[in-house]
Amino acid sequence: MINIPRKELNDGSHIPKKELNDGSHIPIIGLGLAQIPATEVSDLVYTALKKGYRHFDSAAIYKNERGVCEGIAKWIKEDPGNNKRSDVWYTTKIFETEHGYEKTKNAIRVCLENAKTIGYIDMILVHSARSNWERRHGTWIALQEAVESGFVKTIGVSNYALKHVQELLEYKDLKIKPAVDQVELHPWLMREELVTYLQKNKIAPEAYSPLTRGMWLDDPTLVRIARKHNKSPAQILINWSLSKDSSAFQGLRSQKDWTVTLKSLISS
Ligand SMILES: NC(=O)c1ccc[n+]([C@@H]2O[C@H](COP(=O)([O-])OP(=O)(O)OC[C@H]3O[C@@H](n4cnc5c(N)ncnc54)[C@H](OP(=O)(O)O)[C@@H]3O)[C@@H](O)[C@H]2O)c1
Repeated sequence: MINIPRKELNDGSHIPKKELNDGSHIPIIGLGLAQIPATEVSDLVYTALKKGYRHFDSAAIYKNERGVCEGIAKWIKEDPGNNKRSDVWYTTKIFETEHGYEKTKNAIRVCLENAKTIGYIDMILVHSARSNWERRHGTWIALQEAVESGFVKTIGVSNYALKHVQELLEYKDLKIKPAVDQVELHPWLMREELVTYLQKNKIAPEAYSPLTRGMWLDDPTLVRIARKHNKSPAQILINWSLSKDSSAFQGLRSQKDWTVTLKSLISS
Protein backbone atom coordinates (compact mmCIF):
# COMPACT_ATOMS: atom_id res chain seq x y z
CA MET A 1 0.00 0.00 0.00
CA ILE A 2 1.11 3.58 -0.63
CA ASN A 3 1.70 5.18 2.72
CA ILE A 4 1.13 8.88 3.20
CA PRO A 5 1.18 10.23 6.76
CA ARG A 6 -2.38 11.39 7.54
CA LYS A 7 -1.30 14.63 9.16
CA GLU A 8 0.18 15.78 5.86
CA LEU A 9 -2.95 15.24 3.81
CA ASN A 10 -4.60 18.59 4.56
CA ASP A 11 -1.96 20.08 2.35
CA GLY A 12 -2.39 18.51 -1.06
CA SER A 13 1.19 19.34 -2.00
CA HIS A 14 2.04 16.15 -0.13
CA ILE A 15 0.08 13.92 -2.52
CA PRO A 16 2.83 12.00 -4.31
CA LYS A 17 3.52 13.08 -7.87
CA LYS A 18 4.64 11.01 -10.78
CA GLU A 19 7.13 12.35 -13.31
CA LEU A 20 5.87 12.07 -16.89
CA ASN A 21 8.05 11.64 -19.98
CA ASP A 22 8.08 15.42 -20.62
CA GLY A 23 9.42 16.18 -17.13
CA SER A 24 6.09 17.39 -15.70
CA HIS A 25 4.82 16.05 -12.37
CA ILE A 26 1.24 14.79 -12.04
CA PRO A 27 -0.42 14.19 -8.63
CA ILE A 28 -1.06 10.44 -8.68
CA ILE A 29 -4.62 10.62 -7.35
CA GLY A 30 -7.22 12.82 -8.96
CA LEU A 31 -10.92 13.53 -9.02
CA GLY A 32 -12.89 12.58 -12.14
CA LEU A 33 -15.60 15.07 -13.01
CA ALA A 34 -17.46 13.27 -15.79
CA GLN A 35 -20.75 13.13 -13.91
CA ILE A 36 -20.71 16.59 -12.35
CA PRO A 37 -23.12 19.17 -13.82
CA ALA A 38 -21.69 22.56 -14.84
CA THR A 39 -23.83 24.30 -12.21
CA GLU A 40 -22.28 22.31 -9.34
CA VAL A 41 -18.71 21.72 -10.44
CA SER A 42 -17.11 24.99 -9.31
CA ASP A 43 -18.18 24.55 -5.66
CA LEU A 44 -17.26 20.88 -5.78
CA VAL A 45 -13.73 21.54 -7.09
CA TYR A 46 -13.20 24.33 -4.55
CA THR A 47 -14.29 21.99 -1.73
CA ALA A 48 -12.11 19.20 -3.12
CA LEU A 49 -9.06 21.48 -3.08
CA LYS A 50 -9.75 22.24 0.59
CA LYS A 51 -9.94 18.50 1.26
CA GLY A 52 -6.54 17.94 -0.35
CA TYR A 53 -7.27 17.00 -3.98
CA ARG A 54 -4.89 18.60 -6.46
CA HIS A 55 -5.69 16.83 -9.73
CA PHE A 56 -8.93 17.27 -11.71
CA ASP A 57 -10.01 15.38 -14.80
CA SER A 58 -12.49 17.06 -17.14
CA ALA A 59 -13.22 16.97 -20.88
CA ALA A 60 -14.92 19.14 -23.47
CA ILE A 61 -17.72 16.57 -23.65
CA TYR A 62 -18.37 16.85 -19.88
CA LYS A 63 -19.44 20.48 -20.52
CA ASN A 64 -18.09 21.63 -17.16
CA GLU A 65 -14.56 22.87 -17.96
CA ARG A 66 -15.29 26.53 -17.21
CA GLY A 67 -16.70 25.70 -13.77
CA VAL A 68 -13.77 23.41 -12.93
CA CYS A 69 -11.34 26.25 -13.67
CA GLU A 70 -13.44 28.78 -11.74
CA GLY A 71 -13.30 26.49 -8.68
CA ILE A 72 -9.50 26.31 -8.95
CA ALA A 73 -9.23 30.09 -9.48
CA LYS A 74 -11.40 30.81 -6.41
CA TRP A 75 -9.16 28.61 -4.25
CA ILE A 76 -5.98 30.33 -5.51
CA LYS A 77 -7.44 33.82 -5.04
CA GLU A 78 -8.42 33.03 -1.46
CA ASP A 79 -4.80 32.57 -0.29
CA PRO A 80 -2.33 33.21 -3.13
CA GLY A 81 0.63 32.91 -0.77
CA ASN A 82 -0.15 29.27 -0.05
CA ASN A 83 -2.56 28.14 -2.76
CA LYS A 84 -0.40 27.97 -5.86
CA ARG A 85 -1.54 27.36 -9.43
CA SER A 86 1.54 25.19 -9.89
CA ASP A 87 0.30 22.77 -7.20
CA VAL A 88 -2.89 21.97 -9.17
CA TRP A 89 -3.16 19.70 -12.20
CA TYR A 90 -6.02 20.31 -14.66
CA THR A 91 -6.70 17.85 -17.49
CA THR A 92 -9.21 18.27 -20.29
CA LYS A 93 -9.88 16.28 -23.48
CA ILE A 94 -10.69 16.94 -27.14
CA PHE A 95 -13.66 14.90 -28.32
CA GLU A 96 -13.57 12.72 -31.44
CA THR A 97 -15.95 15.03 -33.36
CA GLU A 98 -13.15 17.63 -33.23
CA HIS A 99 -10.46 15.39 -34.77
CA GLY A 100 -8.47 16.82 -37.69
CA TYR A 101 -5.96 19.69 -37.69
CA GLU A 102 -8.28 22.72 -38.12
CA LYS A 103 -11.08 21.41 -35.93
CA THR A 104 -8.67 20.50 -33.13
CA LYS A 105 -6.97 23.91 -33.31
CA ASN A 106 -10.37 25.49 -32.81
CA ALA A 107 -11.28 23.03 -30.02
CA ILE A 108 -8.02 23.89 -28.22
CA ARG A 109 -8.93 27.60 -28.48
CA VAL A 110 -12.26 26.84 -26.78
CA CYS A 111 -10.53 24.79 -24.04
CA LEU A 112 -8.13 27.69 -23.40
CA GLU A 113 -11.00 30.18 -23.30
CA ASN A 114 -12.71 27.97 -20.68
CA ALA A 115 -9.43 27.85 -18.72
CA LYS A 116 -8.63 31.57 -18.88
CA THR A 117 -9.22 31.97 -15.12
CA ILE A 118 -6.25 29.67 -14.41
CA GLY A 119 -3.88 30.84 -17.16
CA TYR A 120 -2.87 27.53 -18.71
CA ILE A 121 -3.90 23.89 -19.11
CA ASP A 122 -1.74 21.20 -17.56
CA MET A 123 -2.77 18.44 -19.95
CA ILE A 124 -4.97 17.96 -23.01
CA LEU A 125 -5.80 14.43 -24.14
CA VAL A 126 -7.24 13.11 -27.39
CA HIS A 127 -10.41 11.64 -25.82
CA SER A 128 -10.61 8.61 -28.11
CA ALA A 129 -9.13 7.17 -31.29
CA ARG A 130 -12.51 7.00 -33.03
CA SER A 131 -11.87 8.59 -36.46
CA ASN A 132 -9.19 7.71 -39.01
CA TRP A 133 -5.42 7.98 -39.55
CA GLU A 134 -5.57 11.39 -41.23
CA ARG A 135 -7.82 13.03 -38.66
CA ARG A 136 -5.97 11.53 -35.67
CA HIS A 137 -2.68 12.72 -37.19
CA GLY A 138 -4.00 16.27 -37.74
CA THR A 139 -5.23 16.36 -34.16
CA TRP A 140 -1.81 15.35 -32.83
CA ILE A 141 -0.01 17.99 -34.90
CA ALA A 142 -2.38 20.67 -33.56
CA LEU A 143 -1.71 19.47 -30.00
CA GLN A 144 2.06 19.57 -30.54
CA GLU A 145 1.68 23.20 -31.70
CA ALA A 146 -0.39 23.98 -28.60
CA VAL A 147 2.53 22.87 -26.42
CA GLU A 148 4.83 25.17 -28.39
CA SER A 149 2.42 28.04 -27.59
CA GLY A 150 3.15 27.53 -23.87
CA PHE A 151 -0.51 27.55 -22.79
CA VAL A 152 -0.75 23.76 -22.80
CA LYS A 153 1.99 21.99 -20.86
CA THR A 154 1.47 18.29 -21.55
CA ILE A 155 -0.37 16.24 -24.19
CA GLY A 156 -1.55 12.66 -24.27
CA VAL A 157 -4.18 10.25 -25.51
CA SER A 158 -7.10 8.36 -24.06
CA ASN A 159 -8.79 5.10 -25.04
CA TYR A 160 -5.96 4.43 -27.49
CA ALA A 161 -5.48 0.72 -28.15
CA LEU A 162 -1.97 -0.60 -28.71
CA LYS A 163 -2.31 -0.21 -32.50
CA HIS A 164 -3.29 3.46 -32.16
CA VAL A 165 -0.32 4.22 -29.90
CA GLN A 166 1.97 2.38 -32.35
CA GLU A 167 0.50 4.39 -35.23
CA LEU A 168 1.16 7.67 -33.39
CA LEU A 169 4.73 6.75 -32.51
CA GLU A 170 5.36 6.14 -36.22
CA TYR A 171 4.33 9.66 -37.39
CA LYS A 172 7.19 11.07 -39.46
CA ASP A 173 6.61 14.53 -37.96
CA LEU A 174 6.29 13.35 -34.37
CA LYS A 175 7.93 15.87 -32.07
CA ILE A 176 6.24 15.07 -28.77
CA LYS A 177 5.34 11.59 -27.56
CA PRO A 178 2.09 11.26 -25.60
CA ALA A 179 2.80 11.52 -21.89
CA VAL A 180 -0.13 9.28 -20.91
CA ASP A 181 -2.75 6.93 -22.30
CA GLN A 182 -5.84 7.27 -20.10
CA VAL A 183 -7.75 3.98 -20.25
CA GLU A 184 -10.19 2.03 -18.11
CA LEU A 185 -7.94 -0.01 -15.85
CA HIS A 186 -8.75 -2.18 -12.83
CA PRO A 187 -8.38 -5.85 -11.83
CA TRP A 188 -11.33 -6.83 -14.04
CA LEU A 189 -9.79 -5.05 -17.04
CA MET A 190 -6.03 -5.36 -16.73
CA ARG A 191 -4.98 -4.70 -20.36
CA GLU A 192 -1.61 -6.30 -19.67
CA GLU A 193 -0.29 -6.14 -23.25
CA LEU A 194 -1.15 -2.45 -23.61
CA VAL A 195 0.20 -1.52 -20.16
CA THR A 196 3.49 -3.35 -20.84
CA TYR A 197 3.81 -1.61 -24.22
CA LEU A 198 3.12 1.81 -22.69
CA GLN A 199 5.62 1.26 -19.89
CA LYS A 200 8.25 0.14 -22.40
CA ASN A 201 7.70 3.34 -24.39
CA LYS A 202 7.70 5.57 -21.29
CA ILE A 203 4.04 6.51 -21.70
CA ALA A 204 2.21 6.45 -18.36
CA PRO A 205 -1.03 4.49 -18.17
CA GLU A 206 -3.69 6.56 -16.39
CA ALA A 207 -6.46 4.53 -14.81
CA TYR A 208 -9.99 5.74 -15.31
CA SER A 209 -12.95 4.10 -13.58
CA PRO A 210 -10.47 2.59 -11.07
CA LEU A 211 -13.38 1.84 -8.73
CA THR A 212 -15.04 -0.23 -11.50
CA ARG A 213 -17.85 2.38 -11.66
CA GLY A 214 -18.93 0.91 -8.33
CA MET A 215 -19.81 -2.43 -9.98
CA TRP A 216 -17.29 -4.73 -8.24
CA LEU A 217 -16.85 -2.97 -4.90
CA ASP A 218 -18.69 -5.80 -3.09
CA ASP A 219 -16.93 -8.63 -4.93
CA PRO A 220 -16.26 -11.33 -2.27
CA THR A 221 -12.55 -11.71 -3.11
CA LEU A 222 -11.98 -7.93 -3.04
CA VAL A 223 -13.90 -7.62 0.24
CA ARG A 224 -11.83 -10.48 1.74
CA ILE A 225 -8.55 -8.78 0.71
CA ALA A 226 -9.77 -5.45 2.06
CA ARG A 227 -10.74 -7.00 5.43
CA LYS A 228 -7.40 -8.80 5.65
CA HIS A 229 -5.53 -5.49 5.26
CA ASN A 230 -8.04 -3.46 7.27
CA LYS A 231 -8.75 -1.23 4.24
CA SER A 232 -11.85 -0.39 2.21
CA PRO A 233 -12.37 -2.08 -1.19
CA ALA A 234 -11.93 1.38 -2.79
CA GLN A 235 -8.52 1.77 -1.11
CA ILE A 236 -7.42 -1.63 -2.41
CA LEU A 237 -8.50 -0.77 -5.97
CA ILE A 238 -6.80 2.65 -5.97
CA ASN A 239 -3.60 1.06 -4.73
CA TRP A 240 -3.86 -1.62 -7.41
CA SER A 241 -4.05 1.13 -10.07
CA LEU A 242 -1.10 2.98 -8.61
CA SER A 243 0.95 -0.22 -8.61
CA LYS A 244 0.67 -0.20 -12.42
CA ASP A 245 2.81 2.92 -12.47
CA SER A 246 -0.24 4.98 -13.32
CA SER A 247 -2.25 7.78 -11.81
CA ALA A 248 -5.91 7.17 -11.05
CA PHE A 249 -9.09 9.15 -10.49
CA GLN A 250 -11.99 8.47 -8.30
CA GLY A 251 -15.26 9.40 -9.96
CA LEU A 252 -18.10 10.89 -8.00
CA ARG A 253 -21.69 10.57 -9.03
CA SER A 254 -23.54 11.69 -5.94
CA GLN A 255 -23.09 14.32 -3.26
CA LYS A 256 -23.08 11.65 -0.55
CA ASP A 257 -19.48 10.84 -1.41
CA TRP A 258 -18.42 14.18 0.02
CA THR A 259 -18.34 12.42 3.36
CA VAL A 260 -15.65 10.24 1.78
CA THR A 261 -12.50 12.32 1.65
CA LEU A 262 -9.24 11.72 -0.07
CA LYS A 263 -7.94 10.47 3.26
CA SER A 264 -10.23 7.47 3.11
CA LEU A 265 -8.65 6.35 -0.14
CA ILE A 266 -5.07 6.30 1.05
CA SER A 267 -3.67 4.14 3.76
CA SER A 268 -2.68 5.88 6.95
N1 LIG B 1 -11.22 9.00 -20.83
C1 LIG B 1 -12.40 8.44 -20.80
O1 LIG B 1 -12.98 8.05 -21.82
C2 LIG B 1 -13.09 8.25 -19.48
C3 LIG B 1 -14.20 7.38 -19.37
C4 LIG B 1 -14.78 7.19 -18.13
C5 LIG B 1 -14.28 7.86 -17.02
N2 LIG B 1 -13.22 8.71 -17.14
C6 LIG B 1 -12.69 9.49 -15.99
O2 LIG B 1 -12.61 8.66 -14.84
C7 LIG B 1 -13.43 9.22 -13.80
C8 LIG B 1 -13.95 8.14 -12.92
O3 LIG B 1 -14.69 7.21 -13.64
P1 LIG B 1 -16.09 6.59 -13.21
O4 LIG B 1 -16.87 7.58 -12.40
O5 LIG B 1 -16.70 6.02 -14.44
O6 LIG B 1 -15.71 5.34 -12.35
P2 LIG B 1 -15.14 5.02 -10.89
O7 LIG B 1 -14.37 6.12 -10.31
O8 LIG B 1 -14.54 3.67 -11.02
O9 LIG B 1 -16.48 4.77 -10.08
C9 LIG B 1 -17.32 5.78 -9.61
C10 LIG B 1 -18.19 5.12 -8.58
O10 LIG B 1 -17.40 4.82 -7.43
C11 LIG B 1 -18.06 5.28 -6.28
N3 LIG B 1 -17.08 5.81 -5.32
C12 LIG B 1 -16.35 6.94 -5.42
N4 LIG B 1 -15.54 7.08 -4.33
C13 LIG B 1 -15.76 6.01 -3.54
C14 LIG B 1 -15.23 5.59 -2.31
N5 LIG B 1 -14.30 6.29 -1.68
N6 LIG B 1 -15.69 4.43 -1.78
C15 LIG B 1 -16.63 3.71 -2.43
N7 LIG B 1 -17.18 4.06 -3.62
C16 LIG B 1 -16.74 5.20 -4.17
C17 LIG B 1 -19.00 6.38 -6.72
O11 LIG B 1 -20.08 6.36 -5.87
P3 LIG B 1 -21.26 7.46 -5.86
O12 LIG B 1 -22.15 7.05 -6.99
O13 LIG B 1 -21.88 7.30 -4.53
O14 LIG B 1 -20.61 8.79 -6.06
C18 LIG B 1 -19.35 6.00 -8.16
O15 LIG B 1 -20.51 5.20 -8.19
C19 LIG B 1 -14.47 10.04 -14.56
O16 LIG B 1 -15.08 11.04 -13.77
C20 LIG B 1 -13.62 10.63 -15.66
O17 LIG B 1 -12.87 11.73 -15.17
C21 LIG B 1 -12.61 8.90 -18.35
